[in-house]
Amino acid sequence: MHGARRRPIEPAFMEAIERPAPPAGGWTASNIVGVDNLSFAEIDYVLALAEHYAGYLKRGERPPQRLAGKTQINLFFENSTRTNLSFELAGKKLGADVINVPVAASSVNKGEALIDTAQTLGAMGAHVMIIRHSDSAVPASLAERLDFPVINAGAGAWEHPTQALLDAAAIRSVHGDLKGLVIAICGDIRHSRVAGSDVRLFTRLGAEVRFVGPAHLMPDDDQHKDVRRFASLEEGLAGADIVMALRMQFERMEGDGKVAAQGYFETYGLTYDTLKLAKPGAWVMHPGPMNRGIEIDGALADDPDRSLILRQVFYGVATRMACLDALLTGGL
Ligand code: CP
Repeated sequence: MHGARRRPIEPAFMEAIERPAPPAGGWTASNIVGVDNLSFAEIDYVLALAEHYAGYLKRGERPPQRLAGKTQINLFFENSTRTNLSFELAGKKLGADVINVPVAASSVNKGEALIDTAQTLGAMGAHVMIIRHSDSAVPASLAERLDFPVINAGAGAWEHPTQALLDAAAIRSVHGDLKGLVIAICGDIRHSRVAGSDVRLFTRLGAEVRFVGPAHLMPDDDQHKDVRRFASLEEGLAGADIVMALRMQFERMEGDGKVAAQGYFETYGLTYDTLKLAKPGAWVMHPGPMNRGIEIDGALADDPDRSLILRQVFYGVATRMACLDALLTGGL
């Protein structure tokens, strides 16, 4: 008798989910460097296509090899588990040749300019480049100069568009739609590119987004001016359908970032108790990687009846399959 718990296929995925039609007027985005690159119809298409591909993943079926013959380059200048590996899996599932550039062993370390590295990879036949970088301007600047598409896999503290799309896909899987939902984003919003992309996307999809946390972890006053800010979980979580914790991004904090975490869990940590401040049945989310016992209680994070965290990871692969397919084939 094996002890491992087998997850049944959810009924929604038992039968093939029809491939959606491309957006009326066609797919026009030539890059995904930010959420605002995409029209509403393109966002809707990506989310529907992600659901279509989620079915293949759930059923363990090989999807049509729509990217056969294409070369995908993953160029990551910062650490990543979820984004890097899910982009690699996504490309491979659709038949692309996927190359992860070993940045530490590349000519970048001999002083080569990033644009020269990128153009060199283009000359080798790249059809799409997935870039993660500490500088928020890098994906847009590469997209302007390269003659093949660029996808921002997280840059600086401003944008992580495919994370926002996969977060929306995970929310849709339990709520159907984001329209009218109250989504509380808690914690280190100031240093979070996820929060930036999430607020832009969720708001466009009709959700009310709130920021909850201490003043020193809030963005500057001139940023995200339309988002209501709350200093207490009691006020910020009242009526929330979704409560998202963010990682404390110590590496982006000035001085000793660990000071920011002192006493944080006691006041702002997500636990079964603090979740009672939200709507009954509210879900918790976290983009990962998470610090257990700092932003969120480990048992709550692991509870499949309250937490969407692993569902976010699952939708990461399906959503990135959808983004690659849409960008490289236009959905045709
Ligand atoms: N959410 C996210 O971007 O995780 P990684 O840093 O592991 O890619």
